[in-house]
Amino acid sequence: MNQPGTWQRPDKHDPGTLDDATWFVHGGNRADDTTGAIRTPIVMANSYLLPEDPTTIDDPAYSGLVYTREHGANQLGLERKLAALDHGQAAAVFGTGMAALHGAFFTLLGPGDHAIVSNVVYMRTQGLFEDLLPAKLGIDVDFVDITDLDAVVTAMRPNTRLVHTEVIANPDLRVADVAALAGIAHASGAQLTVDSTFTPPPLLRPLDLGADLVIHSLTKYFNGHGDAMGGAVIGGTELIEQIRTGTLHHVGGAISPFNAWLIMRGSITLPLRVQRQCDNAQQLARFLHDDPRVAYVAYPGLADSPHHAIAQQQLRGGYGGVVSFALAGTHQGRVRFVNDLRVITSAVSLGHDETLVAYEHYPPEVAAALDPHFREHGLVRLAVGIESPEDLIHDLDAALTTAYGTAR
Ligand SMILES: Cc1ncc(COP(=O)(O)O)c(C=O)c1O
Repeated sequence: MNQPGTWQRPDKHDPGTLDDATWFVHGGNRADDTTGAIRTPIVMANSYLLPEDPTTIDDPAYSGLVYTREHGANQLGLERKLAALDHGQAAAVFGTGMAALHGAFFTLLGPGDHAIVSNVVYMRTQGLFEDLLPAKLGIDVDFVDITDLDAVVTAMRPNTRLVHTEVIANPDLRVADVAALAGIAHASGAQLTVDSTFTPPPLLRPLDLGADLVIHSLTKYFNGHGDAMGGAVIGGTELIEQIRTGTLHHVGGAISPFNAWLIMRGSITLPLRVQRQCDNAQQLARFLHDDPRVAYVAYPGLADSPHHAIAQQQLRGGYGGVVSFALAGTHQGRVRFVNDLRVITSAVSLGHDETLVAYEHYPPEVAAALDPHFREHGLVRLAVGIESPEDLIHDLDAALTTAYGTAR
């Protein structure tokens, strides 16, 4: 990035000369070879014309497109863009975030390997490590509080191949120290994979902090409009190629050209949306924190959050768009609260333009790993959108008054 006193002439192909706001618009773009279109057109074809000697496609150096499960024009365009935005050498895109996570884990792990996984991660990722990977691949897994670096060091074994974490964890929003975890993993010859779905660039670039792979559910902030699913793994060329051939070629899980196109379009406005979502989330978290009807608020942007210092050290421009909180009172009161909201929509997912709320009460075995504040009252997760913060605050205030019968 251009620094005062060392200004270089900006060039849209050279991120070193550009601010992020410019790089997100131009990074990874290429004019279409056949039409000259300055944005990749939607190419819905399953297959591409083979070269004059069709057998040359088996040469690893062959760079033409062949079949859309493995590489289509829109997938390729999105991969270039994502690698550019996240400071990776290469990217592989998938039909969902879970397919991308699976692609990384099934490539990096084999029978007899040991993995250390944060004990608070998206519930389907937890399921993958609890059931499928041990049962199908004979992987040994330890779930560890990833914010306790001594516990991570203690859990390392000679056969540990992988440390996996989310940067801001779904759902209790604890924050991992990516650089420290990379150091611990690498000291023992293991690799660090980071699910950065809650912290897309420019908030954070885990590869810059030493992670081996970064994984995103593109369904969330990258697409940003709640209308397409996708996932990506980004990292070094060699590892990404292994993931592509191991899982996209042989297992499938490809993203559709149309969804890849939608997500590529969404990624251009990512910094604008994420800035607004972070600003809104900070205001909503402060409002909830100061409200006596709210038992607890977890948001790394709050100065009294136990994760504020590490979040401040790592993140750029904000603390994410998700606020989790606990409401005291009864289960019925919390259900009344969710149903009385008139702007905020009750639905899962996050990173959408509209604010979503999800109320969950976790079974004791899941709740045990969470921040203790969420064990008794369940957890209300606000996935903050780009609406007016005043409208969102008024909506929350009114629904709390309806649910609890007391004004603020
Ligand atoms: C942190 C995180 N990672 C991965 C996923 C899975 O993404 P997808 O729904 O696109 O499969 C989710 C979904 O909520 C998530 O929250």
